[in-house]
Amino acid sequence: MSASSIFAPNLLANQVAIVTGGGSGIGAGIAELLAAHGAKVGLVGRTLEKLEATAMKIRERGGVATCRAVDVRKYDDLSQATESVTHEFGGLHILVNSAAGNFLAPAAGLSANGFRTVIDIDLCGTFNASRAAFAHLSKQGGNIVNITATQATVATPLQCHAGAAKAGIEKLTRDLALEWAGSKIRVNAVAPGPIEGTEGMTRLAPGGAGDHLKKRVPLNRYGNIDEIASSVLFLVSPAGSYITGSTLLIDGGTSLIGPGPFLDMMLGEI
Ligand code: HXC
Ligand code: NAP
Repeated sequence: MSASSIFAPNLLANQVAIVTGGGSGIGAGIAELLAAHGAKVGLVGRTLEKLEATAMKIRERGGVATCRAVDVRKYDDLSQATESVTHEFGGLHILVNSAAGNFLAPAAGLSANGFRTVIDIDLCGTFNASRAAFAHLSKQGGNIVNITATQATVATPLQCHAGAAKAGIEKLTRDLALEWAGSKIRVNAVAPGPIEGTEGMTRLAPGGAGDHLKKRVPLNRYGNIDEIASSVLFLVSPAGSYITGSTLLIDGGTSLIGPGPFLDMMLGEI
């Protein structure tokens, strides 16, 4: 049985979801799973071709998807896209913030603009999308799920920009959960560890570093996109109805071993 089939079919019938970063990797996997369970999905990212490819997959399987080519750093554009998806599908119930930018860089060599760029995409982008969605989600209640990373809590060399951004998102998750609980909006986060076949892993564990990391994951393998998507489905489903302000760590135990592989990379040992 695949992880995605443990939930009842049409669990999300009559719901509308927006997924930022929905054109590739983990965001695309989440969008596909939400759509497979009946949600109409609005895909947001900068590259229309990537969004259309995900939308096509969803439609081929009988789902419903629409695309908006928008940069999450631009609030007005994002707000307009949120309005238009909501208008097209008749409401909004779920927002998943998966858009992010990342690269390996030692702090001492990272430019101020490089640091700001990652904060702007990840943290400000998550606030922007949440703020734009609030008026619609609060009409009947709903869910926000933010995708963070283990770098939010594990001190990690070469990742100060991404770690600060993801830590900020986890704090934002708790603050919005508290402020918006009265509007029946649950706000949670999912923190993946290394997930196979993603842009994130290509960038952060290139070549031999990947093999080195894989051997050290306590569960002895990388995670897969389906495992992250299933956890998002769980959080937005009735099974998660009393969960808000939490971060679900889905990392095969990787954070338990600390920054090991990144430390080795910094020291030039891999
Ligand atoms: C140092 C870098 C850099 C690098 C860019 N910069 N790449 N600095 N090392 N490898 C600096 C640039 O020099 C510039 O600063 C500033 O960052 C902005 O760069 P731009 O290219 O102008 O920015 P932009 O076009 O907005 O692109 C954003 C990006 C890009 C983040 C740099 O890589 C991108 O669009 N990424 C999206 C896809 C992605 O990253 N996916 C992976 C997410 S995975 P200066 O000072 O020169 O102007 C992920 C994994 C988490 O988050 C954890 C896994 C375990
Ligand atoms: P990915 O495929 O590169 O996903 C990131 C997506 O965000 C892309 O589709 C990208 O599309 C979009 N995006 C980037 N900048 C944007 C912007 N300014 N505005 C709008 N969209 C933007 O990488 P991934 O590895 O699947 O990562 C997905 C999420 O999981 C991220 O939040 C990442 O931090 C998190 N994560 C990943 C891993 C992992 O192992 N891969 C581990 C922990 C956490 P465009 O470039 O077309 O805009």
